[in-house]
Amino acid sequence: MQDKLKTLEQKQQEALLGGGQKRIEAQHKKGKLTARERIHFLLDEGSFQEIGMLVTHRSTEFGLDKEKYLGDGVVTGYGTINGRLVYVFSQDFTVFGGSLSEAHAEKICKIMDLAMKTGAPVIGLNDSGGARIQEGVVSLAGYADIFYRNVKASGVIPQISCIMGPCAGGAVYSPAMTDFILMVEHTSYMFVTGPNVVKTVTHENVTAEELGGAHTHATKSGVTHFACANEIEAINTIKKLLSYIPQNCEEKPPRMPYEITDWTKELRPALNSIIPPSSSQPYDMHEVIQQVIDEDSFLEVHKEFAENIICGFARIVGRSVGIIANQPAVLAGVLDIHSSIKAARFVRFCDAFNIPLLVFEDVPGFLPGTDQEWNGIITNGAKLLFAFAESTVPRVTVITRKAYGGAYDVMNSKHIGADINYAWPTAEIAVMGAKGAAEIIFKDEINAAEDKEAKWKEKEAEYNELFANPYKAAERGYIDEVIKPEETRIKLIRAFEMLENKVDSMPKKKHDNIPL
Ligand code: HXC
Repeated sequence: MQDKLKTLEQKQQEALLGGGQKRIEAQHKKGKLTARERIHFLLDEGSFQEIGMLVTHRSTEFGLDKEKYLGDGVVTGYGTINGRLVYVFSQDFTVFGGSLSEAHAEKICKIMDLAMKTGAPVIGLNDSGGARIQEGVVSLAGYADIFYRNVKASGVIPQISCIMGPCAGGAVYSPAMTDFILMVEHTSYMFVTGPNVVKTVTHENVTAEELGGAHTHATKSGVTHFACANEIEAINTIKKLLSYIPQNCEEKPPRMPYEITDWTKELRPALNSIIPPSSSQPYDMHEVIQQVIDEDSFLEVHKEFAENIICGFARIVGRSVGIIANQPAVLAGVLDIHSSIKAARFVRFCDAFNIPLLVFEDVPGFLPGTDQEWNGIITNGAKLLFAFAESTVPRVTVITRKAYGGAYDVMNSKHIGADINYAWPTAEIAVMGAKGAAEIIFKDEINAAEDKEAKWKEKEAEYNELFANPYKAAERGYIDEVIKPEETRIKLIRAFEMLENKVDSMPKKKHDNIPL
């Protein structure tokens, strides 16, 4: 018996060393943690249960059969984060550069299958040279096995990818199909083809960091949802993100304790003076959000991408909500291709995982111009409209100022299924802004006037008085209540409480056909 225990211990020691001390040191020198250290920081202490520690690769080509590292370049298993079950795979760059072999892929698939059966999130910590070159098509098959599972799991269990090293070639498509991607600045990159191929094909000179680093994907492409300064920040962001999300699509998100002792404490008088005197003056919608949510509860998603719309998770009296808000401080809060895609994906995630939606609206319309039209603002803008219209979670909208044109309909209007629609007295709900409207409908009168400028101003004011207010919409019931800004938090607490047990569904279908 003692001999057998010794053999086991030896094997465990061997596995813990991965590709060996020298390679571990090289990993640390790059400012990167090892696969096991990452799991250690991610999971509750002592909770990790490893699966497949003794798995080895099966390749006999290129002398590879002599190097049988235990675990084959990926550490897989399950554990808990704040007491909640999660599954993890963590690629080990010290073993063949974390490259993906048949056995490596099988280990990942095994935990994905378990996650589906038990209804718990999967977290992938990616640090890999891609397909194991020595295994050829077998490795490609392994990737496809993972892709297939990513798609089957989509909308059933949350999937989170954290990129902590290279992620190149077709390997990028597994993270791309998960719900959230985090990247670590300066030590991770993602691209379909690297700088060398780019140079050959397009003659562009670009570094790996410029082509596919965290900053690039957080600001230019929107591929990553979070760019983190270092690995510990990335790990902590994963934990925070999970705190807003349920275990699977059948469950509700976790609720944090919150007790209201005095309702007057929930009034937010600062909101009464947040809207500037002139309709064309910007203000920061973050300030509105911060006033209505529980203190320090905002986790912004895609913070640096398409900043004209704000998306993020927050809590209202301990309840998770997904916030989508036009940002008047950036491009006047206009809807364009990127902001529509960003918000549509966020809305769909929240809807899939039973997270109520809260919309703050101040939008002058869709961005005009050839760039937007030729790049498909029609198809892309429709994504956001579609995403709101098909969502069945509790949905509440607050119109703070502009709600013009098609954007009024799109931004979670009553007509596309929102449950409760509020407007502040400063709301302007109309087909278009007063200036443009006056020019069109009072054209003859303005042209006939001696002082055209004065006439235009007069007609603008007339239009504003008549149309650019919330009362026409309230008369029709499109707005449920015009509220004082200071009451917003209280109204939202009450509305989400009332909607807690909302049941709604879409007609039976195979799946919809969102304009991709
Ligand atoms: C096998 C690999 C490997 C791979 C790296 N290694 N990538 N082994 N298959 N794909 C091994 C190296 O031989 C080396 O082994 C160790 O990992 C570390 O690699 P280094 O090159 O020394 O490290 P570094 O200088 O940091 O460079 C990392 C790297 C580079 C940029 C990732 O290794 C690289 O370019 N690798 C190839 C990347 C690639 O083209 N992969 C295929 C992409 S296409 P030793 O023994 O020296 O430690 C793809 C298709 C997926 O993945 C398709 C899905 C549909």
